[in-house]
Amino acid sequence: MKGQQGIGRPSWRSVVSVFLCLGLAIASLSLGNITPALADGVTEAELSEMTELWKGSAHALSEINCSSCHQDSETEAFVQKPNYESCQSCHEFETDTFLLGKHGIRLNEGQSPLTPAKARLAMKPEAHSKQMNCNACHNVHSVNTYEASVDSCLTCHNDQHSLNYETSKHAELFVAEGVLPRPSSASVTCATCHLPRETHQETSGGDVLVNHNNTYTLKPRDRMVSEVCMNCHGMEYAYNSIFDNELVESNFAQPPKLHLKSFDMVRVLRDKREGK
Ligand code: HEC
Ligand code: HEC
Ligand code: HEC
Ligand code: HEC
Ligand code: HEC
Ligand code: HEC
Repeated sequence: MKGQQGIGRPSWRSVVSVFLCLGLAIASLSLGNITPALADGVTEAELSEMTELWKGSAHALSEINCSSCHQDSETEAFVQKPNYESCQSCHEFETDTFLLGKHGIRLNEGQSPLTPAKARLAMKPEAHSKQMNCNACHNVHSVNTYEASVDSCLTCHNDQHSLNYETSKHAELFVAEGVLPRPSSASVTCATCHLPRETHQETSGGDVLVNHNNTYTLKPRDRMVSEVCMNCHGMEYAYNSIFDNELVESNFAQPPKLHLKSFDMVRVLRDKREGK
């Protein structure tokens, strides 16, 4: 891991051993006699909150513990605030795709992270200096994907399309279907359309992984139709919805009114071919 923050700060050495031991102690669930003297500027209450979140996470279940992310793999140094590189070795596909989209491209090019202050689209004023990284959407200790799918997006995004989602039929489905820990595949979240799930045949179990490139389904627009909408809707319904800018702006608040002529042409051609 390179480019981590927090390495070389004067007080880290004193923290390392206590911190890593604490991690191990927590991993074996014997917090008992450890004094949590801790990382820079982190209170005991904050630490125990992070620990509680981690205990209930998919990571704790898979024995991914504090040091899996907080220890530099080469130098074994303690890292107080790990960045995306700490996730990369285990989540290569998610990281690689993140780095290709609008959200991650600046990091990919070695620039400072994207912030809402740099945006053309409307953003929440209080989020202006929030830096884009895995932790912008994931609480890195709970790694709760349910919160990541809508709530996290709305900490930054403030345009009409984004705000209108919450009153859509799709949002109703999400609320009704909301099965923890992962959002149900029968619901539609911001991520369903913008960070689509993909089945990876090359892995033994045909793993379903999330494509984190948030530009991917936008260009060309047809891509969202085939990769997302058509899992649930017919092609014509989906095209008539996606090419209606007002309907997109309203975040699909009603059935499509648009009537793309090309579908009529296809029907005429088909009828001709079938000799009707
Ligand atoms: C999946 C990786 C991962 C695991 C596992 C993990 N952390 Fe973290 N932790 C992070 C990341 C990433 C950050 C930086 C978050 C940020 O920059 O806001 C962080 C931040 C912190 C901080 C610093 C917060 C601050 O504001 O300076 C503390 C303390 C901490 N974690 C404690 C723990 C403890 C204790 C455990 C084990 C119970 C743990 N972490 C497990 C990834 C992890
Ligand atoms: C040492 C390997 C390792 C590291 C490092 C790691 N993870 Fe994970 N992560 C896992 C494993 C294993 C799972 C569980 C996979 C499963 O259940 O299919 C997981 C699951 C997840 C999930 C899904 C949670 C759920 O409820 O299904 C998210 C989100 C996640 N990790 C994010 C991160 C982020 C963000 C980082 C870096 C801050 C990170 N991980 C670092 C191994 C790791
Ligand atoms: C830390 C703030 C932040 C969070 C959290 C965030 N975004 Fe963004 N997003 C941005 C910024 C900034 C841009 C760039 C906007 C611009 O340039 O006008 C952006 C751009 C986008 C774009 C347009 C991509 C393109 O190529 O034009 C989409 C789609 C998007 N975000 C979806 C999401 C979704 C879905 C979520 C939640 C799963 C999310 N964002 C979470 C800040 C954020
Ligand atoms: C049913 C699918 C769907 C859902 C759900 C959805 N979007 Fe979108 N989103 C779209 C489509 C389609 C576009 C327009 C693509 C285009 O302009 O070519 C879009 C565009 C965007 C853009 C780029 C706007 C621009 O002008 O560049 C952002 C940002 C965005 N969505 C964020 C969100 C957020 C945040 C949520 C959840 C609160 C969300 N979307 C929910 C389908 C969806
Ligand atoms: C724009 C918000 C956003 C950012 C940034 C983000 N994620 Fe995610 N991630 C999500 C959402 C939402 C889901 C769940 C989507 C779903 O299940 O439908 C998810 C799911 C995951 C999963 C579980 C699904 C899988 O593919 O195994 C992992 C692991 C993960 N993210 C890792 C990462 C890592 C690593 C980074 C940083 C390189 C990152 N994420 C950055 C929003 C984000
Ligand atoms: C996981 C399944 C699923 C996906 C994926 C999905 N939808 Fe839907 N959509 C639904 C369901 C279910 C309804 C509600 C139908 C109803 O109540 O009549 C709905 C409703 C709609 C409506 C009508 C809303 C209303 O108020 O009547 C539109 C328009 C729509 N979807 C467009 C899209 C578009 C465009 C996409 C792709 C970008 C998409 N949907 C993706 C399941 C899905």
